[in-house]
Amino acid sequence: MRKPFVAGNWKMNKTVAEARQLVAEMAPGLGSFQGVETVLCPPFPALVAVSAMLAGTGIGLGAQNMYWEESGAYTGEVSPAMVAELCGYVILGHSERRTYFGETDRGVNRKTVAALAHHLVPIVCVGETLAENAAGETAQVVTRQVREGLQGVDGAEASRLVIAYEPVWAIGTGKAATGQGANEVVRECIRKPLAELFGGSTAQAVRVLYGGSVTPANAAEFFGQPEIDGALVGGASLKPDFVKIVQAAVK
Ligand code: PGA
Repeated sequence: MRKPFVAGNWKMNKTVAEARQLVAEMAPGLGSFQGVETVLCPPFPALVAVSAMLAGTGIGLGAQNMYWEESGAYTGEVSPAMVAELCGYVILGHSERRTYFGETDRGVNRKTVAALAHHLVPIVCVGETLAENAAGETAQVVTRQVREGLQGVDGAEASRLVIAYEPVWAIGTGKAATGQGANEVVRECIRKPLAELFGGSTAQAVRVLYGGSVTPANAAEFFGQPEIDGALVGGASLKPDFVKIVQAAVK
């Protein structure tokens, strides 16, 4: 059985002082649930402070990005070892990285391989844009992102992956996918290519999340789907109410 998983992606929000305040408000509630893996992903500058506050709570810490190289002349980048010193998780290939910062499937692939080598759990994001959805290309796009993003990943490590299906049109728009619609994409376009790459039992072991306008009001619709194991939450993870989303994931 796959353990439910909920991650809060704070994106480019919260100074260190604001991050401390939010964690102080949320951590007691979040830390009280058994049977769900909960992860907070603040911006890089807040990772040290939040890591200290989460010690001993059972709540995980994740970064929102990293580079694949080990070290060197890559101004502005953060290495896998730097992330792994503080975090257990890293979000990779988020659609905002792909859209605004030119990330490609190939780059996401290199980052995923590097993250696993550093014993991080990569949260690999995939999802079609509004135009791709309207053109009937969802299956093709999501399947390609999974295949290319995960090629060359060691089969023995693959079950540690977490994949987030985030239709780009649902992110930050208030227009979430339907539970059933997301479940179908996860089954056909994520678990099937996972099975081709790594075999059926690994494909069944990988946690797959839904992301895109998840709120306390709609979370249960997604968590009730057989192929969906949790959520990657953006806007709603910045409010103390995030605790309600995590609570809804507890089986
Ligand atoms: P949202 O963002 O919950 O604000 O739609 C989700 C995400 O981008 O991970």
